[in-house]
Amino acid sequence: MKFNLLITGGLGYIGSFTAKNYLKKTRKKLTVVDNLSRGNLFAKKYSSNNILDISNNNLKKIIEKKKINTIIHLASFTCVRESIRKKNKYLKNFKSQIKFIKNIKKTNVKYFIFSSSLSVFEKNKFKKNLSPYSMYKLKIEKYLETLSSKNFKVIILRYPNIIGSDPQGELGEKNEFISRIVPIFYKNLLKMKKNILYYDYNKKIYPYRNYMHVNDIANINLKVVENLDKFKNNYQIFNIKNKKEYSNFEVLDSLSKIMKKKPLIDLKQINNKESINQVINSKNDILRIIKYSLKYKDLKKILQTNLKWFKKIY
Ligand SMILES: NC(=O)c1ccc[n+]([C@@H]2O[C@H](COP(=O)([O-])OP(=O)(O)OC[C@H]3O[C@@H](n4cnc5c(N)ncnc54)[C@H](O)[C@@H]3O)[C@@H](O)[C@H]2O)c1
Repeated sequence: MKFNLLITGGLGYIGSFTAKNYLKKTRKKLTVVDNLSRGNLFAKKYSSNNILDISNNNLKKIIEKKKINTIIHLASFTCVRESIRKKNKYLKNFKSQIKFIKNIKKTNVKYFIFSSSLSVFEKNKFKKNLSPYSMYKLKIEKYLETLSSKNFKVIILRYPNIIGSDPQGELGEKNEFISRIVPIFYKNLLKMKKNILYYDYNKKIYPYRNYMHVNDIANINLKVVENLDKFKNNYQIFNIKNKKEYSNFEVLDSLSKIMKKKPLIDLKQINNKESINQVINSKNDILRIIKYSLKYKDLKKILQTNLKWFKKIY
């Protein structure tokens, strides 16, 4: 199928890498919509941008004019912990996403790829006590299922924790609104400040997460689009993960060794809406379907790619 692609949230972290890789592959700028609530203008050189909320009715006109038939939907607020503190903000963002999806259904879009999250899980089962962030991801998944048909195929990609930067320092994550694990550890190590490590005092365990390099997830997004005709069902869900899980302690330890700085640590009880271990096993079927093998499997290697970018922005 010849696809005309639009990415929502294309000025954000994952969106900007997806746009950059698309430009590298095709020499064309892909169409992006982002309201810049969290994104960065430095990413605008990789795409053709529309600074707009996804719920804006004008988006429908852009989609029609550009004959968009495929969407990767990344635009969202993205932080589990922030969503527990700022419930209304996340509810409003959820409502924007629902309005956007309703508007899309009135267009000729045939493929809709939704970035969900492994944070809906605790040890491979749906977590009962979900944060608003993860709850809305599941609600959108379910809503999309009700809309899916042979003329509106839905592919759900449940991402793991995405980290890393362009190793040459050209692009990376910059988000002043939320505390992301690697940037916050980097800044604390640099300034010899204490690192808060969330910990479950009852189970005596650090939380484990699955980490994937941002370039790998950007490549996966594009490979899914290139291989759309291989996705036969109207609605399909994929859990995407790297080889191994790591605890927050291991992430800090590994980064501190790379930076040759001794970490200062404060333990804090983890909120029970957060998972201790999201996935314990899951087949990476999607990688087989799109014939992609991950470029970054080792945590240390992923963390090392941050150094040039972080030096530039912090
Ligand atoms: N980064 C991760 O570790 C991770 C893990 C699992 C899932 N995800 C999902 O991947 C997607 C992208 O995440 P990211 O890390 O790039 O986040 P990000 O915050 O860097 O990017 C999201 C972008 O969406 C934009 N946006 C938000 N609400 C919008 C709206 N209503 N209208 C228009 N634009 C809007 C923001 O300005 C931002 O540029 C999100 O849906 C997130 O939930 C991310």
